[in-house]
Amino acid sequence: MSDRHTTSRDIRTIIADRVSRRGFLLGSAGGLTAVAATGFVGSLFSGAAHAQAAQSSLTFTELTRIFDQTHHVADGYKADVVAAWGDAMLAGQSAPDLRAMTAADQATRFGYNADFIAFMPLPKGSQNSDNGLLCVNNEYVSFNVMFDDLPDDGEGGAKMTAEQVAMCNAAIGHSIVEIKREGGVWSVVQDSPMNRRITLDTPMAISGPVAGHAWMKTSYDPEGRMAKGTNYNCGGGTTPWGTVLTCEEGASDTFGGDPTKSPIAAVLERYGYDGSDYYGRARFDDRFNVEKEVNEPNRFDWVVEIDPYDPASTPVKRTALGRMAHEAATTVLNKDGRVVVYMGDDDYFEYVYRFVSDAAFDPANPGSGKDILDAGTLSVARFDADGTVAWLPLVHGQGPLTAENGFADQAEVLLKTRLAADALGATPMDRPEDMETNPVTGRVYAVMTKNKKMTADKLNAVNTRPENFFGHIVEMIPPGGAGADADHTADSYGWDLFVLAGNPKETGQGATFHPATSENGWFVTPDNLTFDPKGRMFVATDGANDFDLADGIYGVDTDGPARALPKLLFAAPLGAECTGPCFTPDGTTLFISVQHPAEDSETLARATTLWPDFAEGGVPRPAVVAIQRMDGGEVAA
Ligand code: FEO
Ligand code: CA
Ligand code: CA
Repeated sequence: MSDRHTTSRDIRTIIADRVSRRGFLLGSAGGLTAVAATGFVGSLFSGAAHAQAAQSSLTFTELTRIFDQTHHVADGYKADVVAAWGDAMLAGQSAPDLRAMTAADQATRFGYNADFIAFMPLPKGSQNSDNGLLCVNNEYVSFNVMFDDLPDDGEGGAKMTAEQVAMCNAAIGHSIVEIKREGGVWSVVQDSPMNRRITLDTPMAISGPVAGHAWMKTSYDPEGRMAKGTNYNCGGGTTPWGTVLTCEEGASDTFGGDPTKSPIAAVLERYGYDGSDYYGRARFDDRFNVEKEVNEPNRFDWVVEIDPYDPASTPVKRTALGRMAHEAATTVLNKDGRVVVYMGDDDYFEYVYRFVSDAAFDPANPGSGKDILDAGTLSVARFDADGTVAWLPLVHGQGPLTAENGFADQAEVLLKTRLAADALGATPMDRPEDMETNPVTGRVYAVMTKNKKMTADKLNAVNTRPENFFGHIVEMIPPGGAGADADHTADSYGWDLFVLAGNPKETGQGATFHPATSENGWFVTPDNLTFDPKGRMFVATDGANDFDLADGIYGVDTDGPARALPKLLFAAPLGAECTGPCFTPDGTTLFISVQHPAEDSETLARATTLWPDFAEGGVPRPAVVAIQRMDGGEVAA
């Protein structure tokens, strides 16, 4: 989202200053009020009685905290690179020349900055855990460590050549590669006909209520029904009919031109457009200039559905799911067959959303999923202090969402999703990232990664700490019962704070992990989640470098006496975040993305790490890593 390019050097100074001041204020009336206002003090401490007896159900021996140039995994496990930026995806293709890659070459190779991962078994519909399609988002490019002399100082994009910009446009989007496991080793099937790249230039259908709307028409697409490419593909999801949902997470800094001169200036302002043209695209292509191609911004920030099993298929932008800085698109098949999608809008004080399809999906007829995401109800969450969540429908004609208030029809409600949610009184959150459902309990978890802009006067029931540099995880409790009995279509849920992140020893940070949490186990800045087949949560973090800690993967029980007791499984190298955690169906491999290694470096010549190759004069490469137990058993079982 919008602080992707904040240098760690800047934010570290701010955090060091503010955290020490907060520690000084510990015990002041203001600090105590912030905690007491949550109404959850009781639940925070109710686990304390179990502290001595608590034992995590996760069987691995915790990794000792470490932060250096390479990655580390717990004893008894291995963590192997499966696919990295530039890897070949065509029969006979050579190894990449990372320092001289053309746009055309990049468009046939594994993309940059791996993020969300889906493992889609082969054959389709099976539970095969040894062969499948690795479907990976490629969120953005860290050009400061791809090319020489292009610092991440806000000026780098303006210095890029046309060829460099084109290469970067081809490096983002999505990569689909067939992978196989033989003898416990995963490798890419380089000549698979299923291998595919999707980039900023791939044609995409626009579907749902916004298709053909006047605001979607451009010189490239006068009908407003065929967009060009996808951008900032961050989180995602998979569907019961075997497709992948990739999330477009806010295009606001990728356009040039003056957004205040646009006919839709108010909308662009609400979506954070600043005209910064961070990647230098507008200098070479008018479609990235908001003054020249005024509707192009409206064609981003959607959820895109991809059929990875059909390499010739056209991706589809599903506009019924709303327009925002989409992070997650986690799909649940409700017990009545309706399809539910949970989504976070990752920006400061943005909201948590849910989509419920009108029609029911029939698992016996996978074709019934086609276009099912085009019709349904999008809602936004209001978290009340009494521990309930109200889902507020974004439906034209209901409540304030009328023509008199600037919403001419349902298409406008969706094009201006954030404004519609504002009008409904949704709860502003501390940057909602992933949302995931525990398959065993049916509870839904929403990750608030952090919010440096939170102030005491803006706190609410579920976002409880000013200067929240640490993040927290909210537990949402649908009615109806556990697992498949949970009703993910209900108008009202319960909620609780699962954990407030931070260092438990720094009491001023207000962290609420289980009291038995070790020195290695606590985390900050949670981002993505997944669950293993037994319903244990795995958390990927993004932002720990600001605390001079490695980002990592932590396993944590959500239920039982060890609830909220995390353990460190994996540590990423310098400059990298962990993201995209994804299990094979049998739970024996946990795939993760190691995104933007060395991104904290001023320039490539001063790269803090050349992970994972460490070749002299080389280039760091984001990559997907497979974490497996040495004996091949289930991870953490
Ligand atoms: Fe791309 Fe919300 O992290
Ligand atoms: Ca993320
Ligand atoms: Ca993030």
